[in-house]
Amino acid sequence: MALLEEIEPLKQSGLAELKSAPDLAALEHTKGAYLGPNGKFTALMKQLGALSKEERPAAGKLINLAKVELENALGEKRSELELKAALPKEPTDFTLPGRRRPLGKLHPLTQVTEDIVRSFRKIGFVVADGPEIEDEYHCFDALNTPADHPARDSQDTFYTNTPTKQLLRTHTSSVQIRVLEKFKPPVRIVVPGRVYRRDNADATHNPTFHQIEGLYVDKNVTVGDLKGTVEFVFKELMGDDVKVRFRPHYFSYTEPSFEIDFTSPLVKKMGKDWLEIAGCGMVHPQIFENVGYDPEVWTGWAFGFGIERIAMIRYNIGDIRLFYENDVRFLRQF
Ligand code: DAH
Repeated sequence: MALLEEIEPLKQSGLAELKSAPDLAALEHTKGAYLGPNGKFTALMKQLGALSKEERPAAGKLINLAKVELENALGEKRSELELKAALPKEPTDFTLPGRRRPLGKLHPLTQVTEDIVRSFRKIGFVVADGPEIEDEYHCFDALNTPADHPARDSQDTFYTNTPTKQLLRTHTSSVQIRVLEKFKPPVRIVVPGRVYRRDNADATHNPTFHQIEGLYVDKNVTVGDLKGTVEFVFKELMGDDVKVRFRPHYFSYTEPSFEIDFTSPLVKKMGKDWLEIAGCGMVHPQIFENVGYDPEVWTGWAFGFGIERIAMIRYNIGDIRLFYENDVRFLRQF
């Protein structure tokens, strides 16, 4: 009978000790003292043999129930102490400056694109876009590029082999047509985007590259507006000491047409006088006809810059392929 009476008080003192354990080490020690091979409950079990056959099962059951209760209390206390051990000893001061991991950077082409767009936004332009998979109408026909023009040759342009003849746009000029078809003048847009040509990759060519198209349509627009705008944007982009020059050229969608050359101390340092940077001109009246604008009323200009080319000059990069290799040693520099 004495054994039976010992169980409950022993359990109670065990529970009390477990609950008051100050840390994990003390807890493990208490566990050993009660449930371990030399613990108090193990000792009780050993005494079971001294009981009569009738008393033994009830006593054994009581001991086992007590042990289960102790195990449960132990588990609970252990989680509590582990959580406490994981918490910082001192309260966290959230006003301290953080230790920030570098989160990566924008690609240099993205940076240049964003800078150009930012400059145009200052003077009232908005960003437009259009599909990279185009049809011949928007890429060529509507821009007055005749069917026998070499740009339309499959040697120069990627065509899809779908039943409807489609292609990868060779320039962002296709978006001029898409926007003019959809909106009423006046129009002031820039269109950054990817274009495709069947070039083999070398230091200055790649089968895909990026352009930014500009289009301004309003009444009484002049070449002076075009030149002033181009100058403004290049000064924003490359500094006040840049100079811009227009050279007569031919594009089927502008008349007159120009190539834009650009120079700066940086260009001089590269051993060049002028660098060709873009094409532009006054929107051809036929283009207005093609999209249903009255060419007697509306005037405008357009341009197309190569973004890689601008980035190469700005950062003095000698090989266009570096932009696409995603080598972090290159990308980290911008
Ligand atoms: N689309 C021309 C090219 O890819 C660039 C260009 C020239 C765009 C004259 C224009 C423009 O909008 O007016 O080379």
